[in-house]
Parts: sequence; C-alpha cells; structure tokens
Amino acid sequence: AQILKILILPGDGIGPEVMAEAVKVLKAFETPQRQFQLRQELIGGCSIDTHGKPVTEEVKQAALDSDAVLFAAVGGPKWDHARRGLDGPEGGLLQLRKTMDIYANLRPCSANSPSASIAKEFSPFKQDVIEGVDFVVVRENCGGAYFGRKVEESDYAMDEWGYSEAEIQRVTRLAAQVALRHDPPWPVISLDKANVLASSRLWRRVVEKTITTEYPQVKLVHQLADSASLILATNPRTLNGVLLADNTFGDMISDQAGSIVGTLGVLPSASLNGLPGERGLTTRPYGLYEPTHGSAPTIAGQNIANPVAMILCVALMFRYSLNMETEARQVEDAVRKVLDSGVRTPDLGGTAGTKEVGDVIVSAL
Ligand code: NAD
Ligand code: IPM
Ligand code: MN
Repeated sequence: AQILKILILPGDGIGPEVMAEAVKVLKAFETPQRQFQLRQELIGGCSIDTHGKPVTEEVKQAALDSDAVLFAAVGGPKWDHARRGLDGPEGGLLQLRKTMDIYANLRPCSANSPSASIAKEFSPFKQDVIEGVDFVVVRENCGGAYFGRKVEESDYAMDEWGYSEAEIQRVTRLAAQVALRHDPPWPVISLDKANVLASSRLWRRVVEKTITTEYPQVKLVHQLADSASLILATNPRTLNGVLLADNTFGDMISDQAGSIVGTLGVLPSASLNGLPGERGLTTRPYGLYEPTHGSAPTIAGQNIANPVAMILCVALMFRYSLNMETEARQVEDAVRKVLDSGVRTPDLGGTAGTKEVGDVIVSAL
C-alpha cells in the first residue's frame, strides 16, 4: 500500500478540537491501497509548556520528512507574557514556515467554494455585493516585516521590512501559475504601498517585470493596499483574481476576506514552496495546511468552534500535496452539502457542535 506521512500539529485553543474533526475526515479516505501514517506533535504554547520553546528541532525535521503537514492554531492569553517574536507560540508557526521555506500562502475566498452557500444567508454584506466574488490571496510567507531584523527596547522598537528581488520573483511566479490554472487566466492584482514604502517600490518593479516577461498572458493590475481594503468592503468582485501581496498586507487582506462570508471559521489556507506539476519543480513541494483563523481562546473547550476551515485544509492538502484532486472535491462537496442542510456551528448562526459538524461531514462523504 501507498503510505502517506502526515504530520499533525493541533496546537492551542480550539486547535485540538478542530484538528480532531479534520483527522476523522482524513481517515475516511484510507483504503487498502492508501494508508495515512499520522504523527502528532506539539507546537506553539503547549510546546513552550513542555519543551520551553514553541517548536523543537525534532518537529521541524518531522515536517521536512512528511508528505504534508496539517496545522490548526497556536497562541492564547496564557502565553501572552512569554517572550514574543520567534520565541512566543506564534513563533512556532513562523519558524516552521521558514524551515520548510513555504514562501507562498494561498488563501481562497470564493463564491464557488463551500463557503459560498453560507455566505448567502450569513454574510454581513448585501447579496448583490458579494454575488460572484471569487479570489485567492497569494501571500508572501517567508519574508518582509515578519522576518527582518528586530530591535525591541523599552522606548524603541523596529521591524525591518525588506524584500530581495529573488523573494518577490518566486512568489510572483507562483501567483502567475495559480492565475494560469484558470481558463481564461485570472488577472493578478498586486497589492503594495509603492507611494510610500521602498520595499513596495521594488515589489512593484519586480512583479511587473516577472509577469510581463514570463507570463504575458496574465493581466496585471497594481493596487495600493489601503484602497484594496476599501474595495474589498464595497465592490469585492473588482478584486476577482489572484491577490498577490507581501507578508503583512497579505495577512490583513486575508482576514478581511473572512468578512465576506461572515466568519473566519470556514477559510482554509495552503502554504507551499511550489505548485505541483509546474516547470522547474523536480520534487514534490512542501505543503503546510492551516486555517486562516487563530486559536480563538474565548470559545476553546466548548465544542462550538467551526471545524470547516480545518476540514477544508484536508481538501487543499489532497489537491496540492497528495495528488488527490477527486478526493479534494469530495471533501468540498460534502462540506457544501452539510452547510446547506443547516448543520452549522454558532458562528454561522447554527446550533451544531464541533464534533457533530465533523461527524455529519464524514457521513456525507
Ligand atoms: P482568531 O482567528 O483566533 O479569532 C478571531 C475571531 O474569529 C474570534 O471572534 C473567534 O472566536 C472567531 N473564530 C476564529 N476561528 C473560529 C472558528 N473556527 N469557529 C468559530 N469562530 C472562530 O484571532 P485572534 O482572536 O486575533 O487571535 C487569537 C490567538 O490566535 C492569538 O494568540 C493569535 O496570535 C493567534 N493566531 C494564530 C493563528 C495561527 O495559528 N495560524 C492565526 C491567527 C491568530
Ligand atoms: C496567520 C496568523 C499568523 C500570521 C500568526 C499566528 C503568526 O495571523 O496565519 O494569518 O500573522 O501569519
Ligand atoms: Mn493572520
């Protein structure tokens, strides 16, 4: 049988609750020919409690040795006074992103996705505003303000926000490849603050050069990041396509995407260091799959967290790491069916518990 090694990192807060449901879904796809070898490890606050650091070298190595990593969420008030940055709970995730060099974080938000069905009833937006919204954020994930030099003194602090040409180029290529997976190709809409930031001016120049010379079939639009936020809140269809953004702007715009459907509880993401099957890639790219949401400490331990984002991460893992497109769609169809049937957690106005939603999705498969 084919053995697929999956590293399971539940983390903190609602992380373990939503991960348990995702693992149920994953296991439903085991066959005599395809077995999942699951290895579960600590990350984030719980790893600090046990090992004194948010991620151990052993866990990093396990990530590199896996076929894919499923990650839930880290952080919480218990550790907010611990050292932050790379030593705090969130640092566990950041270190893993760096170790795996997963430089592109894909965060889809689509009216054709399973989240669409609930957006219809649950979005705070008017229907005609969000009708047909379909975009994917491609967020640079290993550079910028997150990983530059830092100064942290009592009366001064600094985060260096820098990008090299090579860092911008590789994420631009990946964004263009995502655009070309659609027929006709999606436009790439690149977000920056080139009117203010030097790093944004390099960003704009490199994105422009890379797309026009290497992907002439892809239409490119530059959009200032602040006005992109406004557009997302007023006329989001204008942003249909691939929203290419640096680490900071990508973080912000992808949370804002949660407002379209009305909750972060249904938005998955894939962090990759390449798209499978693209030119120049000889090996299977690393992939880490995590919801866009965090550890939601205030709702943890109550069986009310929405497991859908985490379950849709399993679909993205099937699609981008395990060459299981058919199964990816099966997961997405089951989620859509269950949400349509009204089985929903309280963030979507429902009364179902985390476990119930997971169980009903498994039986809908
Ligand atoms: P959050 O995403 O945890 O929560 C934001 C809001 O969304 C809250 O109202 C929360 O209850 C709700 N929410 C989030 N996920 C939900 C789900 N699955 N079902 C239902 N409701 C859900 O963001 P926050 O409150 O700003 O951060 C809490 C902690 O999580 C912080 O320590 C932060 O650093 C961390 N965080 C971690 C990750 C990650 O591990 N990838 C991502 C974001 C934030
Ligand atoms: C996310 C989170 C992380 C980020 C934190 C937890 C480090 O907000 O995945 O969006 O800022 O990248
Ligand atoms: Mn975020």
